[in-house]
Amino acid sequence: MCSVVGYVGTHFSRDYILEGLSRLEYRGYDSAGFACLHPENNRLLYCKAKGRLSNLIEKCKQSPIDGYVAIGHTRWSTHGTSTEINAHPHFDCNKTLSIVHNGIIENHHDLKQQLIKTGHTFHSDTDTEIIAHLFESLILTHNTFKGAVVDLVNQLRGAYAFISISQDLPDQMLLVRKRSPLCIGVGDGQMFIASDVLAFADKTKKVLFIPDEHFAIVKHDMIELYDFKGNSKPLIMQDITSDWQAHQKNGHEHYMLKEIYEQKRAIHATVDFLSTLSPDLWNHIDISAEQIRNLKTISLVGCGTSWHAARIAQFFFETICKLPTKVQLASEMRYMHFFKEPANMHIAISQSGETADTLEALRMVNDFDIPTLAITNVASSTMVREADGFILTQAGHEVAVASTKAFSTQLTALYWLAHRIALERGLIEQHDLKNAEQDLFIIAEVLENGIENYKRTIQKVLAPKYAQFNKSIFLGRHISYPFAMEAALKLKEISYIFAQCYPAGELKHGPLALIDEQMPVYIFSVQDPIIYQKLVANTQEAKARGGHIVVFAFEGQDELCSLAETSFVLPRVKTLLEPLAMSGLMQYLAYEIANVLGCEIDKPRNLAKSVTVE
Ligand code: AGP
Repeated sequence: MCSVVGYVGTHFSRDYILEGLSRLEYRGYDSAGFACLHPENNRLLYCKAKGRLSNLIEKCKQSPIDGYVAIGHTRWSTHGTSTEINAHPHFDCNKTLSIVHNGIIENHHDLKQQLIKTGHTFHSDTDTEIIAHLFESLILTHNTFKGAVVDLVNQLRGAYAFISISQDLPDQMLLVRKRSPLCIGVGDGQMFIASDVLAFADKTKKVLFIPDEHFAIVKHDMIELYDFKGNSKPLIMQDITSDWQAHQKNGHEHYMLKEIYEQKRAIHATVDFLSTLSPDLWNHIDISAEQIRNLKTISLVGCGTSWHAARIAQFFFETICKLPTKVQLASEMRYMHFFKEPANMHIAISQSGETADTLEALRMVNDFDIPTLAITNVASSTMVREADGFILTQAGHEVAVASTKAFSTQLTALYWLAHRIALERGLIEQHDLKNAEQDLFIIAEVLENGIENYKRTIQKVLAPKYAQFNKSIFLGRHISYPFAMEAALKLKEISYIFAQCYPAGELKHGPLALIDEQMPVYIFSVQDPIIYQKLVANTQEAKARGGHIVVFAFEGQDELCSLAETSFVLPRVKTLLEPLAMSGLMQYLAYEIANVLGCEIDKPRNLAKSVTVE
């Protein structure tokens, strides 16, 4: 998704801006741009390029513009296609004021019509350009800069984080935040600005996260912070904990491969972290032990892979805590009727902690005064700040768009949390929680060994073979159904192979019509004997229609394996941990298939790591 980077200081800043943008490249984008004020005459200079950031870097080399006040942007198209004209920065009529923006201005159409009537000329199809023109007109009609900003934010609807620089106020920068993240790294006589702290994590130790619905006027040695009414607000600095060095590929061809292999360590780290937190957990997440004991229901919400983790976790909470658990897709939940349930807890699951739909769903629940908990991987994220409590998965920074270690650590945290809640409710003993932790350590081993055992065959035989099919069906039952959804998502997002997932029992209600010799059918088994037999029957139905069967099974499931062209067999594990056991192998197979196809694995087309627009 879009990223913004800025700098105000006493040094030339183009290299910092471009490096900052490249650190945030993994988030996904389709054009990029840079603007600065000339260091001597303050004239606004800019450079934009369609496509990869490398195109912008090349272009900048040809016109070596640089300055002490500068902004940069990578754009993920929402309004208007990916063209140089639509790339940010955008300008007012006189090109004296420049804006880079993340988010969406929802009332851009009406504002644009009004501005056109008053003589403004637009050049792009973007919603962002409206901000520049509206700001231009408001500066003319207000006595103070601050007054113009307050009027501006009152007129803009939607979610946005934007930075503005201007020839007329050459030593300062305006930062505005509503819903989308924005932060300032405070250096010695210089300020580093970005939508993600990663852009400047090694440049300074102090960061100010702009609070929601606030704006800041920033100079090289000063920050003024205001709310949207124009009231001055105190600056609350935090220490930067992210480590840029930990974000390298460490010899792996892709971040995704590195992250697949980091899962064993990440699961261990997550269990260790939670185990240490355990005695003080309820204080930490700001919910009382009594509330936990009285809980009647749990609600889970997320998007994409995080939603799949939630769907799997439903089995954890219902089986281990005996609590009815509802799972919702954030993008749907927001527009459904919301019924407040008594003694309910809402858990928002999000790797990034910034996904717009999940964040808005969380905010909606917060308004109903229901305890909310965010399970996320990013300590500096908005969800951490806005949920009543939070639990941090210990995956470490996940760069590849396709989520791997974030998924497995979400499952780890949710499995552990289900046991911790059950302990508080007197359903299990302390030693059961310890055993659950041991089971997670065992699963981490199974996950990694699964990859190692099949690595060569996948590389040499299976990935080239399955890369030849351009469509596939994924089937699961019970707890393996949401896992099959995750597997289908993994394959389609990185290899672009069409992958449709169904609960296996639904096959005969329609999807069976799709099956022939050209259709690989990936089947994810379970160990429960009754459900296993049903799954075997479903596999036979697919086999009888010529389907090319690939199974992920457990030891002793010979009947299922005998129906398959390809079978992966894992040791028997705790039934609720079956998805976690299979995840490394499934991710690795998808990875190698995409690799054979020469796909851009870490940054698949059209996708963004952190989906900060609706
Ligand atoms: C999965 O591989 C994708 N990257 C995507 O589905 C992702 O899980 C989804 O966008 C939600 O992101 P979040 O966990 O950061 O909220």
